[in-house]
Amino acid sequence: MKRYSRITGTGSFLPPRRVTNADLVAQLAERGVETSDEWIRERTGISARHFADAGVYSSDLGLEAAKRALEAAGRSAQEIDLIIVATSTPDMVFPSTACILQNKLGANGGAAFDVQAVCSGFIYALTIANAMIQTGAANRALVVGAEVFSRILDFNDRTTCVLFGDGAGAVVLEASSKPGILASDLHADGKHVDILCVPGHVSGGGVLGDPVLKMDGQAVFKLAVGVLEESARLVLAKAQRSASDVDWMIPHQANIRIIQSTAKRLKLPMEKVIVTVDQHGNTSAASIPLALDFAVRCGKVQPGQTLLLEGVGGGFTWGAVLLNL
Ligand code: ACO
Repeated sequence: MKRYSRITGTGSFLPPRRVTNADLVAQLAERGVETSDEWIRERTGISARHFADAGVYSSDLGLEAAKRALEAAGRSAQEIDLIIVATSTPDMVFPSTACILQNKLGANGGAAFDVQAVCSGFIYALTIANAMIQTGAANRALVVGAEVFSRILDFNDRTTCVLFGDGAGAVVLEASSKPGILASDLHADGKHVDILCVPGHVSGGGVLGDPVLKMDGQAVFKLAVGVLEESARLVLAKAQRSASDVDWMIPHQANIRIIQSTAKRLKLPMEKVIVTVDQHGNTSAASIPLALDFAVRCGKVQPGQTLLLEGVGGGFTWGAVLLNL
């Protein structure tokens, strides 16, 4: 019998400190950085984001999201034999945030590793977990996206610091005789490294280069819209489905204009698109599982529905997963 993988539980966590545009505008004004609620909302759709307090790491946010996903799946941490954490803001250079999370969860013994694909990280991680389950290398996985992007923002750069937030989302993915994940599609094009990067690195006991986010916003915007459409079409073709079979699109929550353009190109009405960017900002690898969990818990997304998850981010990386919940 063919082995498939299915999502059996979702969870998410936002750090309690909610920063509205008005709060951020006031904080930035103290540094002499000028922006406005109107500019941020009109250009990005963002009204608020959450920031983690000092001393709170990606593994801490991931831990809360993972506990909620396990509870929703009716599973204990000890039943998990694979943990993949998608993050670009790991707790340490090494070991992986997945190992740190595994220990905090008390799920020790199974495989655990991080995936670094920036805002596409969750799509990459879900694809890898699905492949490992299908081949029998794992039976029950925890796939987590967790980020503290506030740590790598330059709060003197208004073109980037207004866009991002912190948070985590998680799913439990289990072996099943019925298909949950129908198809996935992953890509990268390393020639675009420079348009979105954090160019610092650790060397000789210090940080060399500039360890804050740099972005060519317009270049990212143009690339993102094109590749998201392409990846959606490829994943639908692989699963022999069409856009009209999709009940919900859950895209990476970077910017409402990117989300709207992608939906329009795919002829999907915005009523079929989950949007959380207004309340969460861009939480990078956490944004898709956060949006998925939000949609599940508020009752929009129902068991049995077909979901199109799509991610795009630094690298440049992009991809999509089509699944039945
Ligand atoms: N507040 C006020 N003014 C600002 C701000 C700000 N926070 N940021 C930029 N401006 C100004 C600029 O200085 C510029 O002023 P000028 O005309 O006097 O030179 C003006 O606004 C327009 O700037 P643009 O960069 O042309 O603005 P644009 O409409 O392109 O919007 C944005 C910028 C929102 C970054 C857009 O390019 C975008 O969404 N890009 C996609 C980037 C993205 O979402 N990245 C997320 C990470 S990647 C990922 O997750 C896929």
